[in-house]
Amino acid sequence: MTKDNSTLPLAMVDLTTQYSRIQSEIDEALQAVLDSAHFIRGPIVGEFECSLAGYLDVPFVHGVANGTDALQVALMALDVGPGDEVVTSPFTFIATAEAAALLGARAVFADIEPDTFNMDPKRIEERITERTKAIVPVHLFGQPANMEPIMEIASRHGVPVVEDNAQSVGARYQGQTAGSIGDIGTLSFFPSKNLGAYGDGGAVLTRSQPLYERMRMIASHGSRKKYYNEIVGVNSRLDAMQAAILKVKLNHLDDFIARRVRAADLYDTLLKDTPGITRPVRAEYATHVFHQYTIRVSSDLEGGRDGLAAFLKSRQIPHAVYYPVGLHQLPVFSDGEHAVPPGELPQTEAAAAEVISLPMHTELTAAQQELVAEAIAEFARGVQIPEAHG
Ligand SMILES: Cc1ncc(COP(=O)(O)O)c(C=O)c1O
Repeated sequence: MTKDNSTLPLAMVDLTTQYSRIQSEIDEALQAVLDSAHFIRGPIVGEFECSLAGYLDVPFVHGVANGTDALQVALMALDVGPGDEVVTSPFTFIATAEAAALLGARAVFADIEPDTFNMDPKRIEERITERTKAIVPVHLFGQPANMEPIMEIASRHGVPVVEDNAQSVGARYQGQTAGSIGDIGTLSFFPSKNLGAYGDGGAVLTRSQPLYERMRMIASHGSRKKYYNEIVGVNSRLDAMQAAILKVKLNHLDDFIARRVRAADLYDTLLKDTPGITRPVRAEYATHVFHQYTIRVSSDLEGGRDGLAAFLKSRQIPHAVYYPVGLHQLPVFSDGEHAVPPGELPQTEAAAAEVISLPMHTELTAAQQELVAEAIAEFARGVQIPEAHG
């Protein structure tokens, strides 16, 4: 059996095969860091920041320790603090809202669009108060949120925008790179991300020199000059080993994205006639870089999403539910005076009950995808309620 026809290993993310394709470049870059012994903010970190700034077409990029820190540093630079509110999506990873909460601010959730899963611009304005200090759209699953109306609302209210772009590096919104449209963009280099390190990493990006300088200072214990600390900051650094890996991988990012999009196209074809399945919707205003390939499973299919998950598990087909609950329903955000009553964010609650993500990475083979799609079709055929077909 040739490699391309292989169905093994079938994983949600296959970093091993990807590494084997670029091993000589990665090993050489890591050896250079070892030889230099510049482990903390050595020259390679600056080189990577410059390359990334060029790729994203932004003047300023600063590496930090992870994507959660990137959000926290961004919000600190905007002076978000106790009593403030940050309007964001309830359908995202906890880090987005956690960064606000860590600063004593409150995450205020605006519901999502059912097709893109991104924050619905029409639901933002009703969440804005005089305490709103930032709007944080999340570019979920590889697809930018609809930034034009978001920026219009933000500018009308004089509120800055931080784009949580942990999941969509390289995607474009109306031709502009995701993360470069708002006041600040944040990135995560978690290994499974489209541009993933071999450990933790993150970055903040901006077009504003004052914000850039402030974020650098905050991420460096609040100091511009060593031992002359001006404000209370944090210690958040992108390390040299990760920067070396990321610099190599950045050269491959367009190819990585093309491979993901090809895999998404094939899933689209393979799943197009499967009843009860809604394939990802691609908005006309953006490119989609398919960090995840996330489908919706209709409750008309007996067992619904959870039934499909159990069926895939029985076939040893990897899958994941991003996200099984809205952030407003998590214990951390669901009690206290600001608890969101059930039904207030209906699109988020519906999505949380219906979504399932399929294996998606740069190394997927057509045979692997056929295996996944056949299992989903079998589930849809086998346990479907007859009257669902009329
Ligand atoms: C949308 C979103 N925001 C923030 C983060 C946090 O990134 P990190 O894990 O690098 O801290 C992630 C990572 O999973 C994410 O998916």
